[in-house]
Amino acid sequence: MKIVALVGSTRKDSLNLSLVNTLQVRYGEKVKISIANIAELPFYNQDDENNPGEVVTKFKEEIANSDGVLIATPEYNWTIPGVLKNALDWISRVDKVLVGKPVMIVGVSAGQVGTLRAQLHLRQILASPGLSANVLPAAGNEVLVNFGPSKFKDGLLIDESTLNFIDGVFERFIDWAKK
Ligand SMILES: Cc1cc2nc3c(=O)[nH]c(=O)nc-3n(C[C@H](O)[C@H](O)[C@H](O)COP(=O)(O)O)c2cc1C
Repeated sequence: MKIVALVGSTRKDSLNLSLVNTLQVRYGEKVKISIANIAELPFYNQDDENNPGEVVTKFKEEIANSDGVLIATPEYNWTIPGVLKNALDWISRVDKVLVGKPVMIVGVSAGQVGTLRAQLHLRQILASPGLSANVLPAAGNEVLVNFGPSKFKDGLLIDESTLNFIDGVFERFIDWAKK
């Protein structure tokens, strides 16, 4: 099973990237999680959407060829970062490669609500006509990692109760994506 991850933070020590790296290590025998380089994408421009160039075309192919998409988002000013919205804008147009695709959302923030506001916005965006993703239902599956800096060490999530919770959500996502 092939999962493509979109990480909404492009900084090298990103905790959201560390969370995806943790899942790559933890579930590596079951699924292959590759990380799309959304920082490489140009700013979306409708003039270019029918002939967007190699970087965008390859990115869309990666999504189209995957069995599911994992989105790891920080919260920037109560919503998702622009770099992630830009990636979603590209895939919302022309070939619309996210339509019906299984999506799991996770997020790490430094604050108390663990990207809750960003994730609510993200669910709204993913429901728009051009995206129409098949998002894992929120009930029991909201991965809201708060107080992030205290839960990671050497680039990996080490908080046991959070890891155990994510194990259950990821299992449900894999079952959901297979259906
Ligand atoms: C531009 C910017 C805006 C932020 N806005 C919020 C916010 O609205 N809510 C929040 O909980 N944390 C906010 N933060 C703090 C992030 O939660 C924290 O920097 C987090 O570690 C970012 O994710 P990363 O480690 O994957 O880069 C903001 C950080 C930045 C740089």
